[in-house]
Amino acid sequence: MRELSLHILDIAMNAIEAQASRLVISIEERKSENYLRIRLRDNGKGIPKDLLETISDPFTTSRKERTVGLGIPLLKQAAISCNGHFNIQSIRGRGTELDIGFVMNHVNRAPMGDIEDTIVNIAICSTDIHLAYLHQTDFARLLFDSYWIFARMEDNECVKYQLGRPLKEYLQQELKRIQSEI
Ligand SMILES: Nc1ncnc2c1ncn2[C@@H]1O[C@H](COP(=O)(O)OP(=O)(O)O)[C@@H](O)[C@H]1O
Ligand SMILES: [Mg+2]
Repeated sequence: MRELSLHILDIAMNAIEAQASRLVISIEERKSENYLRIRLRDNGKGIPKDLLETISDPFTTSRKERTVGLGIPLLKQAAISCNGHFNIQSIRGRGTELDIGFVMNHVNRAPMGDIEDTIVNIAICSTDIHLAYLHQTDFARLLFDSYWIFARMEDNECVKYQLGRPLKEYLQQELKRIQSEI
């Protein structure tokens, strides 16, 4: 079973490939209502209408080097198999939004996995993209904006990579904070 954080990384890669300059990842964990919702919104080039109609069928891809695309169909399958929902909207030249829901305690629900790793990887490896990450629980919320970190920094790859570990530790602490009642 795949981890949801890996699905998120996969979908974020689509946004990067679509030349988005902005990506918002938002995760809502509502134990009290037994649902988990993940949304990803980008301002990339968008998806043509004909592709959008078939995009959640397995094997749809616009790649030339191979004929299978699985990122979106696999995520849809993961959501549907947990009595969840899957919705994708896209406007050519404006961007794309995915909205995916899961019944939180469903036996088929994949674990979240290492979400902090996914976020750090996107923030550090794709510095052309401005990433906002929102994570809401029943108790509290976390907001991370890559702009805060990178805006004032020189375009120095070494410094960016050195930030990986402290950023991951910071996110781990923050995730712990929002998971606890007090
Ligand atoms: N956020 C996006 N913006 C623009 N096009 C997208 C986006 N997400 C997916 N696509 C298009 O949909 C196709 C299928 O996506 P996906 O299921 O992830 O498979 P793959 O990325 O392996 O092709 C991609 O090849 C791309 O053309
Ligand atoms: Mg993909």
